[in-house]
Amino acid sequence: MLESFVPTHRVRTPLKDQAALIHGGDYNPDQWLPMMPGILEKDASLMQATGINSSSVGIFAWTSLEPEQGRFTFDWLDRVMDTQASIGNRVILATPSGAMPAWVAEKYPGVRRVDRRGFRSHYGNRHNHCWTSPSYHELVKLIDSKIAERYKSHPALAMWHVSNELQGECFCDLCRKGWCEWLESRYGSLDRMNQAHWSHFWSHTATAWHHAEPTDGVKDGLSLDWMRFTNQQLIDWYNFEARILKASTPEVPVTTNFMTTSFAHDYDLISRTVDVVTDDQYPGYDPEQPNLTKYAAFWSMKQDLYRCFKPGCTFMLMESCPGSPQWRFPQRVKRPNVHRLEMLQAIAHGADGTCYFQFRAGRGSMEKLHGAVVEHWGTERHLQTRRYRELRSLSDLYTKLAPVLGTSVRAEVAIVYDWQSKWGQKLSYGTGVPSPAWDGHDLNYFDEVATEHYIRFWQRSVPVDVVPDDRDLSAYKLIILPMHWSCTPAFAKKITDYVDAGGTVVATWDTAMADEHNRMLLGGWPGEGLGKVFGIWIEEIDRNRRGTPCPITGLPGTGADVAAIMHLEGAEVIASYTEDFYAGSPAVTVNAFGSGRAYFVGTRLDGKALSSLYGRINSDNSIASILPSPLPKGVTAQVRGAGDEAFIFLLNFSNRSQSVPIGALRLKHIENGDELYGHIDLAPLAAECYTLIR
Ligand code: GAL
Repeated sequence: MLESFVPTHRVRTPLKDQAALIHGGDYNPDQWLPMMPGILEKDASLMQATGINSSSVGIFAWTSLEPEQGRFTFDWLDRVMDTQASIGNRVILATPSGAMPAWVAEKYPGVRRVDRRGFRSHYGNRHNHCWTSPSYHELVKLIDSKIAERYKSHPALAMWHVSNELQGECFCDLCRKGWCEWLESRYGSLDRMNQAHWSHFWSHTATAWHHAEPTDGVKDGLSLDWMRFTNQQLIDWYNFEARILKASTPEVPVTTNFMTTSFAHDYDLISRTVDVVTDDQYPGYDPEQPNLTKYAAFWSMKQDLYRCFKPGCTFMLMESCPGSPQWRFPQRVKRPNVHRLEMLQAIAHGADGTCYFQFRAGRGSMEKLHGAVVEHWGTERHLQTRRYRELRSLSDLYTKLAPVLGTSVRAEVAIVYDWQSKWGQKLSYGTGVPSPAWDGHDLNYFDEVATEHYIRFWQRSVPVDVVPDDRDLSAYKLIILPMHWSCTPAFAKKITDYVDAGGTVVATWDTAMADEHNRMLLGGWPGEGLGKVFGIWIEEIDRNRRGTPCPITGLPGTGADVAAIMHLEGAEVIASYTEDFYAGSPAVTVNAFGSGRAYFVGTRLDGKALSSLYGRINSDNSIASILPSPLPKGVTAQVRGAGDEAFIFLLNFSNRSQSVPIGALRLKHIENGDELYGHIDLAPLAAECYTLIR
């Protein structure tokens, strides 16, 4: 059975010539060297002792490299590169454009961003340069090309890291000019743009391109376009820097680090531009948090999203925290075993390395209390710390796990995760379901809803791909569309053809509501012809306060938050509402269409109801699982492999011991070599890896 999940071939790994899992971190010795010239050697020996095999260098180091315009000081970076090479470490070398020196901001005021009120910012902070400024382009081009030329043949160079967490928007005249050009090339005529933005509303009709005011917020189609435009500015900026690097080193991969499922960035689109997908993630699991299982499932879903961004290359964590970040309140330290669990979760879902922010904590400024591999005081005493022991043993495990490099998984189920839908739904005034912090962790409603569907498979050990809506979906046995708001004719046709040919689709409320301009679809929801696939039409959507029960009958469990009030047009009822004026009307339906089936879920079903629904769908479609029985609460099993090699990971996101039945599988523990049959006992918060004995 497991064979069906294992692809035949390995895919590319993140680093150039990568032979081991990456275990590294941001390394900022430029902050230390002026005070402690001997820090490099000390750090190198602590890196070796801890098993840190890579470092991300130079991320915000512009002033140390060019203290005044045209005076370059690379000697310290030469030493860093050479020291890292001398211990066999791989360097992910950054361009420093993520934080500008004060002299740049002072001499070229146009590089500083203009905010939505029209004020140009003072010098300060980071991630704040104008996307268009010709001066910033010139200055960055010079420093980047100097770095690229100087280190292009350095043996430590393994990957380029463009800037850092590219983000934000600028409203200066040059960016506004770019916006007008973008609109003109997208729409060709003002008339077409006005129609797309529904501009006759409140007399907002544009009679010149610059009338499309990005700060307005009234026309959400326009706001959606502004998000697309700024996303494109980010991509253009990335490409601008990447081209400079590639001119010197065409063979060295280039990346920039993402921020998980950040609302402001369409990481699906951005991932198509980078060579390698890398993420900065900070879950901060607390074994005592009440909703740990669901929260952990969200992070697994995120890993699967990242695995699927670039099917031809594995991803990696560029940042994570071995302790606790200073911005988390209260700054509770990571409990024992949690770090291993968090890191193996990423590896289990296909990452080929995990790195930290940062190797050595700074002694001053905003991040001095951010957990790091080595604290600011770090000397040989580091070797007496719990963090050292945990990281050392993780490094040893990573050495044994080297055969997972480039392996992946073949899933039968896909969840469509789409930023355009997320943007369109959220920007539409009237769709709001307030989403208060979730156990102290602020996930947006869209992510929560997607996770509710994802977790049903996660806890049954069914692998899931998390993919954008323009992917080829035809080979999946089941496609899930949580709140898939935006629906183009092409997507509607894809789903129609898929179901017609025998596929199964599950969609929730707020699916196929608007077109690509965020105008509501005509002809009833779900629109663009999908109504006939689902065999329903929706009359109204009752949106309640978060957590408001919406009881149903027909499935165990209940609904909440929303109720799509539907009419049947061929579909059968699986569950109906039992309260309010729509009691008795359908809440969950299924329609036989062509050779397939289309399920529509009108309310936010709880775990019981969704488990029951997916239990039935999985068995109707013979959807296979890695392990034969449902897993105990909080436990997931994941597999990755290639050819005849398969690695099974068991992760226990609970603070208690668990016994996991493994059916007829025979597994070998990768660390101690134990052979296991029948069932496996997992310690609280355990993360274990096994190979398959054939
Ligand atoms: C990341 C950033 C790092 C560091 C870290 C602290 O977002 O890329 O430079 O600031 O947060 O958690």
